[in-house]
Amino acid sequence: MSRKLIVAIDGPSGAGKSTLSKALARELGYINIDTGAMYRSVALLSLQDGIDPHDPAGLQQLCADLTLEFVRSNGGERVVANGVDVSEAIRTPEVSLLTSKVAACPEVREAMVTQQRKMGEQGGVVLEGRDIGTVVFPAAEVKFFLSASAEERGRRRYQELKEKGLEVDLQQTIAEVEARDAVDSERAHAPLIQAADALVIDSTGMSIEAVLAQMIEVVRNREQNRH
Ligand code: DC
Repeated sequence: MSRKLIVAIDGPSGAGKSTLSKALARELGYINIDTGAMYRSVALLSLQDGIDPHDPAGLQQLCADLTLEFVRSNGGERVVANGVDVSEAIRTPEVSLLTSKVAACPEVREAMVTQQRKMGEQGGVVLEGRDIGTVVFPAAEVKFFLSASAEERGRRRYQELKEKGLEVDLQQTIAEVEARDAVDSERAHAPLIQAADALVIDSTGMSIEAVLAQMIEVVRNREQNRH
């Protein structure tokens, strides 16, 4: 009998995590949990409430009062924070930058990890983030670590922004990807590291379809072999 598993997908920004975890969850009939969106929501609300990103007590209170939901709708997946749809508001460059700061705060991480464990403990979930296989669910049955060269990730981000009609510079976008990698991997608390038992997929030069097919096969095999 096949059982529903916990699937962890970690990796740096721009490695294709969002697209792939959504597609994988859809394919498997699992729930997709975008943990980056949770940290982004904390950053957005701190901005709206005037809480300093270096004020742990203020951020802790914000997290204690925060209700986060992922709602599936016709237009895709929506992120709802304290009853308000923040799906677009959490994607601005200002919020992206602020998110790296609030995500480095141990009080914020503790609150988010607790919520993520509650959301995922029953299985049948794909969690996407930076510390899923190492901190949130170290016993997850399937762990992927998605990577791609900084240049390739910068190019993908550049395309995305251009398609949105934004004026962007390719070299600058690559430099921003590298800068964000450095912040995420050098922070003292829960830095981006690969779980020893994660399957590493380098998607440089690979199509989304090819990576997805590989991931589906791994999960299906695990589902069949688990009793
Ligand atoms: O995946 P993303 O770009 O939406 O992530 C936004 C920020 O949140 C990024 O700076 C990394 C951070 N993050 C984190 O620290 N831990 C996670 N589990 C997910 C995201």
